[in-house]
Parts: sequence; structure tokens; C-alpha cells
Amino acid sequence: MRDQVTKRTRYPGPITEAKKHPHDLVERGFATDEALARVLDRYPADLFDINLYDYDAEGQVSLRTGARGKLSGDKLLEAIQAGRLWVNLRDAQNGCPDLWNAAMGEFRKIEAAYPGLKAVRNAGQLIISSPVARVPYHFDPAGVVLFHLRGRKRIFVYPGDEAHLPERNMEQIVARQTTEELPYVRAFEADAQVMDLEPGEALTWPLYAPHRVENLDRFCVSLSMDFQTWPSRFRNGALYTNAVMRSRGGSPRFTEGMSTPELAARWAASLALKKVGGLKSKLDSFERDFEPQVGAADGAGALRA
Ligand SMILES: [Fe+2]
Repeated sequence: MRDQVTKRTRYPGPITEAKKHPHDLVERGFATDEALARVLDRYPADLFDINLYDYDAEGQVSLRTGARGKLSGDKLLEAIQAGRLWVNLRDAQNGCPDLWNAAMGEFRKIEAAYPGLKAVRNAGQLIISSPVARVPYHFDPAGVVLFHLRGRKRIFVYPGDEAHLPERNMEQIVARQTTEELPYVRAFEADAQVMDLEPGEALTWPLYAPHRVENLDRFCVSLSMDFQTWPSRFRNGALYTNAVMRSRGGSPRFTEGMSTPELAARWAASLALKKVGGLKSKLDSFERDFEPQVGAADGAGALRA
């Protein structure tokens, strides 16, 4: 049993496995069609990510991305409910402050359930997604609490060890050098912790643990809140510094074997490197493929200039 816990938690921290917690955001009315249409109407267009995922027989993903377009909030909601879209409203802490403030109250209760857990920065995204949408295998360089508000979804959480979460890939992703997600093979499924989420439930899992999501034939709404702790901040900075060293021909040691002072020094180095433009993000600009449209296949219509 001890081995299993160690294996699931490559990075130290008080959250050792995926676990549900109750929340009150649904009964407070944040997830009705009317409330969501209002949020969509007001949300800044540059904070929308609209994704359409396709999978082959091996579970390998390809992605098309959508522009916000001109649909009103209620029509956009209709396109999502009838389509195959995954809509992320980024910076929810600014974009929907009422929901965010209520969620922070619930977050503090969950945080208190893990002695030693101390978030130093919280941010998040409101996710509004079609009944059959699925999100591919990935990790977030942070802790996550997923507040589920509508529909049903199944979360698969995998161990954060080198086999499931190679450090070389973590470096590339933290330094925004690739649009690729983590390598995934079907054999990982045997290692997954699988949890079904209902409205009123929030799920958290060990920091950095890879995961993927399947909606269970219902239109889904969730608030995904990510948080940094000092250890995760140090770790992310060290991963960034390692990515820069590697791009210059170095072969840095894995962060997994580093002490806290070493991680802190590499975090400090990452701040200096970012200041002088250490690695240019390769993700800053990319083309959009469609815009949401009611009645179009998958809810994805042609782009209009
Ligand atoms: Fe995630």
C-alpha cells in the first residue's frame, strides 16, 4: 500500500490520491442556462478557447480550434449543447467574479482538509462542453480542484511517475515549447483511478498527476480551479530553467532528485531567464479553424472574417 501511494505521488504534497469534496455552487444558481448565457455574453472574446477534439482508434488526439464568433450567449450555449465543442473561458477569476468568489470560499474548505496544503495563487477556467466531448491525456503544472456544476463526467487520474509523466515532456510543456501533450498509450488505462462526477461534487488529485476527462452523454459545466503552492512554484521554475539549459545543449538533472534549496535556486534562475526572454513561447499565435454555429456539424461552422 505504501508503495502504491509513493508511486502515485511523485511530487511531495498532502494530496495523495484523487478525492471528491462537496460544494454549494449549483444550489447558488451559477449553472442555469440563464446564468451561463449572461456569462457568455459578457466574457471577453480573447479569453475564449474553443476546442474540437478527434480521436483515432489508438486514442491519439487531433485538435481543431475555434474563434469566438458573433453568436449571442444563448445561441452559443445552444451550439455547445447540440455540438461537440469544448469551451474554456480563461481567467475566470476576472471573467466571472461572482462565481469565482463563491468558489474560493469552497476552495478554502477543501484546502483546510489537507494539513500542510497552502495555495499561494489561484486561477481558473469555466468549462462549458458538449455532451460527447472528451479532453485528452495531459497534466497541469499546478494543483487542481474541479468544481462540477452540470451534467456528468468521468475523470481518469494516472500516477505522476516517469512512465506516465516524463520530465523531458514536462519541461517542454512548462516552457511552452510544444502544442503536444504528454505521450499517451492505451496501456496506461490499467493504472488509472476512475471517478464519476455529479453536480455539487468537486474533485482534486495529487499535484501534476496526468488526467483525462470524458463527458457522460450530458452537457457539462465545470469550474476548473488551479493553484500554486511554494513547492509547485519552485518545481515549475526548475523545469523551465532545465528546458533553457537543455535548449543550449546542457543535460540538467531531473528536478525529482533535487533538494528544496536547489529547486529554489533554479526557480530564481527561471525568473531571470524569463526577464531576458529565455525561451520564446512557440504557442503565441496560431490559426483558428472554425467558429461556433447552431445547426452546423459538431456545432462548428465556417470562419467568418
Ligand atoms: Fe487538466
